[in-house]
Formats: sequence, C-alpha cells, structure tokens
Amino acid sequence: MGPGAAPGAASAAPRPDPEPQPVLSPLTTAAIFLVVTVDPGGEDTVRDLLEDLPGLTRAVGFGSPDGALSCVAGVGSDAWDRLFAAPRPAGLHPFRALDGPRHRAPATPGDLLFHLRAGRLDLCFGLAAEIMTRLRTAVTVRDEVQGFTYQDVRDLLGFVDGTENPVGAAARAAVLIGEEDPAHAGGSYVIVQKYLHDLDAWNALPVEAQERIIGRTKSGNVERDDEGSHVTLNTITGPDGAERQILRDNMPFGSPGRGEFGTYFIGYARTPEVTEEMLRNMFLGVPPTSHDPILDFSTALTGTLFYVPPAGFLDDLPPLPAAATAPAAAAPAADPSPAEDREPDGSLGIGGLNPQNR
Ligand code: HEM
Repeated sequence: MGPGAAPGAASAAPRPDPEPQPVLSPLTTAAIFLVVTVDPGGEDTVRDLLEDLPGLTRAVGFGSPDGALSCVAGVGSDAWDRLFAAPRPAGLHPFRALDGPRHRAPATPGDLLFHLRAGRLDLCFGLAAEIMTRLRTAVTVRDEVQGFTYQDVRDLLGFVDGTENPVGAAARAAVLIGEEDPAHAGGSYVIVQKYLHDLDAWNALPVEAQERIIGRTKSGNVERDDEGSHVTLNTITGPDGAERQILRDNMPFGSPGRGEFGTYFIGYARTPEVTEEMLRNMFLGVPPTSHDPILDFSTALTGTLFYVPPAGFLDDLPPLPAAATAPAAAAPAADPSPAEDREPDGSLGIGGLNPQNR
C-alpha cells in the first residue's frame, strides 16, 4: 500500500486482469509440442529457462514479425512442488488415465510442456533448439512432435478440425482462470494427447460412415445430428445448461515414410474438469454409446495435464522449495540406469527413440 492510502483501498479498486501467456494465439500453420521431465537436481536450470523464456521467444521471433512466434509453458503436477514454494493451482493433478471397455487413455510422464506456434516451422524449430540448448543437462525429453496445418485446416482423417472453438470473450471465459482461484487468475490448464490413426481402416470406410463418426460433413464441414458421434459426445453442458467449452489447437503430424499419421490433441481450459468430462465421454461412453467411434481409428499414446501460469509468473518466479536446494535433492551419484528405467509410472517410453535417452 502506498503512503497515505486508506486501509482496504487497494482491495476496493478493480484489479487489472493478469496477462495470460499466449494461450489465445490465433491458429498458426506450424507448431512444436515438447514435453520433458526435470532430472533430479535440474530445478535451478529449469527455473532460469522459464524466467528467460519470454526474452528468448522475442529474440528468435522479433526479426520475423509476420511469423508470429509464440510459446506457452505448462508445469505438471509433480514438478510444481519441486520448482516453486507457492500454493498449488486448485485444479492441478496428474493426468487421470482412463480404461474404457474398448480403448485406453494412458497417463504419461511430463513435467513441462512447451507449446510453440508460428506461421513458419523454422521459427518454432529455432526456439525449440534454444530451449533445449539451455535444458539439455537438466531434463529428459519425453516427446517432441512437429505439427503442421494440413490442407484447409483438416486433420489427417480429412475433416476440418477446430470449427467450434470459442473465440473472443467466450474463449477467454472458457480458458482463463478467474475469481475461483484468485492466486492463479490469468492462468489456464492444458491437456495434451498424442493420437496415431489407422488410416488404412479409416479410408476403407464410405464417406457417409466417416461423417456419422465425426458428426459433420466431410467436404462442406456442416454439423450433422448423429447420436454417439465425436461432436455429440464432446458437446457438454454445465448444471446451468450453458455449454462448457475448451480451446483446441490440434495439429496433424506424421511420417509417411514410417506410415505414421497422427493428431496431436491439445485442449486449454479454465478447469481441467471440462476436458476430463469430454475424455470420459469418449473413452467410457455415454449410454447407449459405449465409446467415441473416432477411437476405433485413433490410439492415444500419451496423456498429460499441465498448469499454464500467467505471463507475470514467469517474470517473477516464487522461491525454490527448500527441499530442492538441500544437497540431498541432488541426483544420487550411483544411478546409472537410463531415465526410462527410473520411471515408476508405467511410462510408454515415448522418449525412448531419442538417442539422448538411451
Ligand atoms: C483423434 C483425435 C481427435 C480428432 C482427429 C478430432 C477431430 C475433431 C473434428 C474433426 C471435430 C469437428 C469440428 C470442430 O472442431 O468443431 C471435432 C470437434 C470437437 N472435438 Fe475433437 N478430435 C480429436 C480428439 C478430441 C479430444 C481428445 C477432445 C476432448 C477431450 C475433443 C474435443 C472436441 C470438441 C469439444 C469438439 C467440438 C464439439 C462441438 O461443440 O461441436 N476432440 N474434433
């Protein structure tokens, strides 16, 4: 409180909304999704990088303003307690795996997510390289995916993806934490899942059957009214009858040479409950539908939940927890096992193809 200010005056004045990280950036044509875990003793290095991230993003992107480079950093549940001595965001917890009658949504390791977006892949690549130069000795890479816009914003199943995303004020309301968790207002939650498609089986279906599965027409992108479709299962309402929305920035990715065709699902929301309800609908079904039929052609390989702090958080990080500064927090000297072997959580070893991790 400034000198002479009346007690209570500060709280009576409307507080400016905290600036979010660029979660509401418009759709771009290129993205990189980088998920890492923090190695024991890597906390300081990670914190230094997080503080420098806005500056690094400016350094890489400033000379190419048309490229609109942006980067969102998210923090996983376990990492929060290792990195920050600060109250936990109310909705932060590990991703909840789902075991449905036919399909499974696994939970996979991830302490930090970097969601890089730009109109040019080289800008995302340049920033990802800078981030990894800084983090290489402190983290294990769990997953790295380069996404691209395919044709007229279609997924690799051939359908336009993202049409019903909220925009403007509705997007802010759907995505940004507000009064319900004042210490984290302006933050957000993000769930990512990497899906691989069985395109041979999908392409063997008549277009009409594909449209019934998605719930929209393929060429015209017009909504249909199909019970049990992907769209129907993901159209959810709250107790007040209002639609509960998330902001998706899904990207196709793949390698025709290896026969890999995928969708990287990424959904931002003000509370993870909304995305989690959609996931339950998809994997556990809503009677009489046993599961989302898109899953018969799409396998989830990863699943991780992160909290996305507001921009100001990165400028002024809370202190490092005492445990992480104590010598005991350093890596045990004699642990020669590869990172994957140390994971107690049933990791799919997604990072295992990376020679760095072997
Ligand atoms: C295999 C991965 C996925 C693919 C290829 C995919 C594709 C699509 C397509 C083509 C649409 C229709 C157009 C639109 O975007 O509005 C759609 C809608 C939607 N999807 Fe997905 N999706 C996937 C996974 C997910 C997941 C995991 C969630 C939620 C956890 C989700 C939530 C939604 C929502 C909320 C809509 C809009 C529903 C509406 O209000 O009309 N999608 N998706």
